[in-house]
Amino acid sequence: MSFAPVTPLGLYVHWPFCAAICPYCDFNVYRDRGVDADAWSAALVADLEYWAARIARRPLASLYFGGGTPSLAPVSIIADVVEAAARLFGLDENVEITLEANPNDADEKRLREIAAAGVNRLSLGVQSFDDDALKFLGRDHDAASARRAIARVQDIFATSTFDLIYGRPGQSDDDWRAELSEGLRFAPAHLSLYQLTIEPGTAFARQVAQGRWAPADDARQARHYEIAQDMTKAAGLSAYEISNHAKPGRESRHNLIYWRYQDYIGIGPGAHGRLAIAGERIATKALDRPDAYLKQVGECGNGVETEETLDAEAQLIERLSMGLRLTEGAPLYADDYFYRNDARAQRLRRLMDEGYLTLDCGTLRATDTGRPVLNRLIYELLG
Ligand SMILES: C[S@@+](CC[C@H](N)C(=O)[O-])C[C@H]1O[C@@H](n2cnc3c(N)ncnc32)[C@H](O)[C@@H]1O
Repeated sequence: MSFAPVTPLGLYVHWPFCAAICPYCDFNVYRDRGVDADAWSAALVADLEYWAARIARRPLASLYFGGGTPSLAPVSIIADVVEAAARLFGLDENVEITLEANPNDADEKRLREIAAAGVNRLSLGVQSFDDDALKFLGRDHDAASARRAIARVQDIFATSTFDLIYGRPGQSDDDWRAELSEGLRFAPAHLSLYQLTIEPGTAFARQVAQGRWAPADDARQARHYEIAQDMTKAAGLSAYEISNHAKPGRESRHNLIYWRYQDYIGIGPGAHGRLAIAGERIATKALDRPDAYLKQVGECGNGVETEETLDAEAQLIERLSMGLRLTEGAPLYADDYFYRNDARAQRLRRLMDEGYLTLDCGTLRATDTGRPVLNRLIYELLG
């Protein structure tokens, strides 16, 4: 008897254009100066056809339109990609189709068009409920429009989430409590709470280097993280991932695919993919620049910039660094490749003795002490 593959398959579609570039953002983004909708539809569908020809057909568990600002994309492109995905792969009966939107694009007509295109989960970039903070973050919306957008999104989509950024300079513990309470009053089933990080090469990194302002110190960041854990827990949202909180069963299926190190196709400029092809684990990346992406897909039928076979070491590092972000942890059995390196096995024992990690019946987890310092922990464990 043979069984169909059970590993879920996801599709990530990167839409790289934004109305304005946020000073903290280091994603692959470009100012939106208008696009040729037909050319973009044709390119994304062709790229998807390329991947459909290379991997075994199985229904998609998730599609995710991320960015950039995909709520700015002509809706015909979203509809064309969803239609092509259904034709080429089939859609799981519980397929999750998420689109990231900014509050200023979330008017009722547009949201209804996005829903009609097949999107069933909307992720809104709220970032803050404080007008001064929104200005500091370079956002083009204010708190009132964010509140109205959340209400509209919750009215139109059965499933939605929004993002907030905490640990901003000048944000006190009480400011953060007040903002998060305001967010929780919307009774979200899912919430992403990100600590502000100063990414190299961004406008914020340059401002900090010039001494114009200083990021929140580690102690304040840690307190804000604790506040987020306590308040979301009290509201019935469990911290299933380091920055993500959800009611039971309302976790993001798409992001779980990443963190569980399952398979996903990446299309659109700069998109990454991880796929099992002919028994190998393949890492793919599409060309970053939108014009170069369109040109190559037009000429060659794919947007691939690099494709690399990941060896056991690379897979281990990716699998554990993604999996440890999850409260459920990452699989680590006694015969795992991990243990072929004695120094690494010793470091694991030490980090367990120090109370940062637990290993229970083949599952490695970060403890409550380990989770707030996860990046350092992963670095120490994997070197
Ligand atoms: C690249 S954005 C795209 C979503 C949407 N267009 C927006 O602008 O809100 C995805 C999310 O990543 C988070 N993010 C990006 N850079 C960040 C940083 N340096 N620190 C904290 N959060 C960040 C923000 O919360 C943002 O909502």
